Amino acid sequence: MTSTPCNIAMIGLGVMGRNLALNLLEHGFSVAGYDLQADLTTQAGAEAAALGKAAFVACDSLAQVLANLQTPRVIALSVPAGPAVDTVISALLDAGLALQDTVIDTGNSLWTDTIARDKAYQGKLQFFSTAVSGGELGARHGPSLMASGSADAWRQVGPMWKAIAAQVDVAGMPLPPLSQGEACAAYLGPDGAGHYVKMVHNGIEYADMQLICEVYQFLRQQLKMTAPEIGQIFALWNQGVLNSYLMEISADILQQADPQTGRPLVEMILDKAGQKGTGLWTAVNSLEVGSPAPTIAQAVFARAMSGMKPQRLQAEKTLMLVTDDSLQMSQDDIIAQLHDALYCAKLCTYAQGFALMKATASEQSWALDYAEIARIWRAGCIIRAIFLQDISRAFEQQPDLDNLLLADHFRRTLTERQLNWRKAVANASLTGIAMPGLSSALHYFDGLRTGESSASLLQAQRDYFGAHSYARTDQPEASKFHLTWSQSPRHQVQV
Ligand code: 6PG
Repeated sequence: MTSTPCNIAMIGLGVMGRNLALNLLEHGFSVAGYDLQADLTTQAGAEAAALGKAAFVACDSLAQVLANLQTPRVIALSVPAGPAVDTVISALLDAGLALQDTVIDTGNSLWTDTIARDKAYQGKLQFFSTAVSGGELGARHGPSLMASGSADAWRQVGPMWKAIAAQVDVAGMPLPPLSQGEACAAYLGPDGAGHYVKMVHNGIEYADMQLICEVYQFLRQQLKMTAPEIGQIFALWNQGVLNSYLMEISADILQQADPQTGRPLVEMILDKAGQKGTGLWTAVNSLEVGSPAPTIAQAVFARAMSGMKPQRLQAEKTLMLVTDDSLQMSQDDIIAQLHDALYCAKLCTYAQGFALMKATASEQSWALDYAEIARIWRAGCIIRAIFLQDISRAFEQQPDLDNLLLADHFRRTLTERQLNWRKAVANASLTGIAMPGLSSALHYFDGLRTGESSASLLQAQRDYFGAHSYARTDQPEASKFHLTWSQSPRHQVQV
């Protein structure tokens, strides 16, 4: 054991774990590091030494990790989501972990697994979780951290997380690494709240990426613009209301030439999207809880469609586009329409995500602070965007806001930009360019603003073939009725 026990342990020194450890070291915390793969521990030790920080203790066993920590101990796990988390925790218990010690799962775990672990480890250890967003660079220089578990554990862990998280100034603008401002780290509630919020973050991430890709596709296919030209448009958009990390990297990607052929690199990348599953989890949660997130679901479907490359190539030859030449607008008009469509659809995506969080929070009896969630997404995470400042303000002004689209600021924006959004979706439809994200967001918007929907007919259909009953507009909703559709004369009975 070293003379000074460490503040925290990092178990799992792959890309994320190693960079979180370096970030902690750089902020003055001492770290005991361990990985099953000894070469990863050695690499972390070498990188820590290069930082000029002596406070990294490279351990070669879990027992050594425990012996090198202040008590009560804080141990962060950066291991793959799933059974590995429990395997490591059980090994830690065998190595002598105490009831007062806190174990933090920093992986992309499924939130319901986190709830189950929170229960399973009661009476054995303090189980805590912290979802990390921002990838490798975020972990190293300032991630967004979504924590949950016991409030006691947060008192011990919080100061470290607040120190290493991304920081923003009072206007919500990201600060350079090692600055001090408002930290993008927060305690969000008990058990699975942090992982849940991260899951919705990822769902929004999927949709946001898909929306940008749809605009790229339209500009490329319909306006025949080159990738670098589109990259320049995106770079320009990134200066305004669409300013976001995903816009910025998309602009950069599109202007990147392939080192081998000199062609735009994006054109050399096979159009089959991968996924690890967090978008799917969000879509499933949306279906289960009954809070529509169609743009997130469409983003998952779009990745699935991208995977059907052979079928797409076949269908391209056989399913002919039938259209007319009705798209007669200037290039500038079309670009302006796509800009507004992207902004409105992005807003709808966030509205879906926040409404979904509200629905699940109510089921789980979590008191999620939506203004705080928007605040910790302003920097460090993948969906960081300038308009998260507006979102946090909307929830500060109206913490009970049912839907983000109803906030004054966004209501006005949607009124101003709506026609362009409709035109962009109509153009895509007329020219046969798939826009599942941009159009599903528009349908969400229109669905939400439809006071009297077609579900009356749907209820009648259900009652017709299944005697499922219906409520009447002139009676209390709890009173149910059935029409004897198969009898003559038909009569209505209360059921
Ligand atoms: C982040 C990212 C990160 C990751 C996901 C998405 O917030 O840092 O969301 O968690 O990129 O794994 O990956 P897929 O696109 O492969 O599902």
